[in-house]
Order: sequence, then structure tokens, then C-alpha cells
Amino acid sequence: MDNANLHTPAFDMVLFGGTGDLVMRKLLPALYQAHAADLLHAKGRLLALGRRDMSRDDYLALVESHARCHVKEHFSDSAWQRFLARVDYLKVDAATPAHYPALAAALKNDGDRVTVCYLATAPDLFEGICDNLAAVGLNHDKVHVVLEKPLGHDLDSSNDINEAVARHFREEQLYRIDHYLGKESVQNLLSIRFANALFEPLWRREWIHDVQITIAEDLGVGSRGDFYDGTGALRDMVQNHLLQLLCIVAMEPPANLGADAVRDEKLKVLKALRPFTEQDVAGKTVRGQYKSGAISGQPVVGYQQEQGIPAGSSTETFVAIKAEIDNWRWAGVPFFLRTGKRMQERVAEIVINFRDVPHHLFPGPLGLNTANRLVIRLQPEESIRLYFLAKEPGDTQRLQPVHLNLDFHESFKARRADAYERLLLDVIRGKLALFMRRDELVEAWRWVEPIMDNWARSTTPPKQYTAGTWGPAASSALLSRDGISWHEEC
Ligand code: BG6
Repeated sequence: MDNANLHTPAFDMVLFGGTGDLVMRKLLPALYQAHAADLLHAKGRLLALGRRDMSRDDYLALVESHARCHVKEHFSDSAWQRFLARVDYLKVDAATPAHYPALAAALKNDGDRVTVCYLATAPDLFEGICDNLAAVGLNHDKVHVVLEKPLGHDLDSSNDINEAVARHFREEQLYRIDHYLGKESVQNLLSIRFANALFEPLWRREWIHDVQITIAEDLGVGSRGDFYDGTGALRDMVQNHLLQLLCIVAMEPPANLGADAVRDEKLKVLKALRPFTEQDVAGKTVRGQYKSGAISGQPVVGYQQEQGIPAGSSTETFVAIKAEIDNWRWAGVPFFLRTGKRMQERVAEIVINFRDVPHHLFPGPLGLNTANRLVIRLQPEESIRLYFLAKEPGDTQRLQPVHLNLDFHESFKARRADAYERLLLDVIRGKLALFMRRDELVEAWRWVEPIMDNWARSTTPPKQYTAGTWGPAASSALLSRDGISWHEEC
């Protein structure tokens, strides 16, 4: 099939941190998928930058040994060879201004070609990279800059980075990536809410009792111990991914799907989040850290025994938070956010628990605290499940929970793009809707900061949980105070 009308414009994509983990594990495999699906312009080129003295062949050998194994689908040798023909390598030390003229010279400037600069480096290099790009004229309108998280470690440092970048680039040139926004199911959540009349009238405090958003991982910190110990789950997952999911669940319908219309609505949600007092942090947040345990029957070490973690570290690997949104739609509806490493299984899901009926006519099943619940699964599979109560067959009035299941994979046999693939295509095409605007980032930091500060001052260590479980007992207690339980405990 000819995809000419779907092709991106011609582009040069410059990958800062070209030999790094993100480029090898995520970016090149995602770009290969876009290439194999014939979505990239024939004149699209990839230029990886690194400090190492390497020939193009050396770099391609590295791609072969590191990136290729992360291509999970649609691998074909001929497509892969054609993909590699797009790839080149240039020795550039991102922090050395004298290396940038060679970069500028290596980029084509023909007609409508877009230049994407993907900053897959540590954020402390962002300022220097932007200064250096601007010094060689690589901040013109056709340059799109992708900023990877973490964008700072608190509000001040994030402001510093944003200020430094804004000296040379307009906001419309900046793509602050949160890969959760590229997930197909997150996109689908917008269509479920705003393309169907069924849910929207119920999507409010009158009908919804609580919302639970979970991103659980079974992996530990792996080889990222050094990075992770200075970051923790609150900064790594809550400040960005979980808050973005919360925004999509809670936002008002935008007037259109334009970038600013969507981002304006998300911003309003972030601004309406109730700030945490010191007392709230004690009563409405839980921080945990995994100790040794077992994942899928295999023993695993505790966080403190992982490579690169200092003894006695109090970095959290688990967070649960009761968030509240002070606006007309959501007043009084708790949003429970939860994330953790080394949990029982890898699952990301949004659970909407609807209110109970006002008067019970039937003897209900024991232990169930909501009859109707909508479960939107982001991973491992993408599905939507609607639970309700139905009468048991036979001579009884007893009820049992049953569900309707929509499995996206079953319903749409079409190929599903990975989050990075979708986002990279959007960057090349200049579509900003799935990227965070600066003001969203500011509000997200503003909201998590009191939690970070209180935890930093606290002398109480994070609560331990056994690897392979759903987190510390305090996490269940956080919900039981509202008379409810996490979805998997029901
Ligand atoms: C990243 C975090 O942003 O998201 C990682 O830095 C985490 O710590 C990852 O493992 C989870 O992403 P996904 O798509 O695998 O759920």
C-alpha cells in the first residue's frame, strides 16, 4: 500500500545521547516500526551523536547488537537494512561548542525539511545543548526540540531548565515527552469520554464514588540504581505519568482536539488539585520501599541490595496518594494514585468506581463495595471492562458481578503503534497535543513539592513491602478509611 499521504515531511532527526539506553531500547526500535509501516518520508534521516570516536559502521554494529533485539514486531531483514541506510553517526560532545559547526554542516537544509533534536541526555546538559544549537543557527522555526524527563528534580530546577531552553526556542518548538500520553489506550480514553454520549453524563461526582489509577511494575530498579536513588517513585512516575492520566480522566471536554485546547483543560485540572498540608502528607500519602521477595516464583533482592543503592537509602519505590480535585465536577471524589516497582504484576489501569444504588432490593454478594465499575487497562493488554451485577440463574434473587469486556486487540486487528513511535511521528509532523506544555509542568511540580519536602524532612523511613506484593499494608489502609479497597482486593 502506498502511504504517501501518511508520510511525515522530510526530516533530519538528531539523537543526542545516541549510544545511550533510551536510543537503543526505545527510540531506534520505534523509528524502525514507523519505517517498516512506511510512515517515514523517504528523505528522513537519523543522525546519532556521541562522544565516542566511532565510524558509521561501528555505530551500526552497536545498533545491530543493542537496538535490534528490542524490535518486537514486523522484523524483516530487508526493511531493517533499508532502515539502517537512514542512520548515520557523528562524534559530537554535546557540551563542546566547537563540535556544533560540524553538526550544522551535516544537516540538510532543503525546503520544508524538519530538524528534530532529541535530547536523550541527562537534563543538566539541556541548557548547554540549546545554547550551542542556537550559536550555529539551529534554532530556526523548522527545529523541533524533544526534552526527555526528568525535567528537573523540583520546581526551581525545572524552571531553570525551561528558562534556559526558552532563551532560544519558542514554546511551539518544544516537545516535553511523557510516553504515557502516547499509549494507544490513553488516546482511547479521550474517545471513550468524548465520542460517546453514554459515559459523559455519569462522569461526575453525582455518579462516581472514587477513581483509582495504578501503574505497577514487577521489575526492580535494575541497572538504573544510581539514577533512581536520587529520584524515587514520586518524581519518576507520579509527577508526570500518573498526573497526566489523572488529567485525562478528570478534564472537561475541550472545544476541539487542538494542542492548546487539550492542554488548557489539563492545566485547569492540575490547578484544581488540592494542595497538600503537612498533615495531609501524613494522612493521605504512603511511601514504601521493597525488600527481598519473589517475582513469578523467582527470588529477588530488596531495594537496598540493588546495584548502586547506598545502604540505608530512604528513596521510595512505591507511592500511594489520595488526591482531591476542588472543582464542581469532582468535589468529594477521591482519586487514588499508586505506583511501585517490584509489585505483584505489571499492570497499568484506571478504575472508575460508580456510586452504589440508593436503595438495595436484592441480597448482594458479600465483600463487594461497588456494583458498577469501569476498568480501563493500559497494559499489559489494552481493554475496557464494565462490571455490573446480574441475578444468578435459577430460583434465587442472589446477585453476582459480571462484566462486559472490550479487548482492543481483538476488536481492531490493525497494527498498534508503540507510544514512542506515535510520539516521534507527532514531533516530526509538528503536532503538540500529546506533549506537556511548560505551565502544566510547573503545576505538576507545585503539587508534588510539599509531599517531597515533607518526606525529605521526615525521620520515618519508607514502609517496607515484600517484593512481589501489592505494596505496604498502609496502602490498603489508605482506601479502607473511605470504606473501599483497591480493585484487585475486591
Ligand atoms: C519511565 C520510568 O518513565 O517509565 C521508569 O522512568 C518506568 O522507571 C517506566 O519503568 C515505565 O514505563 P512503561 O511504559 O514500561 O509502563
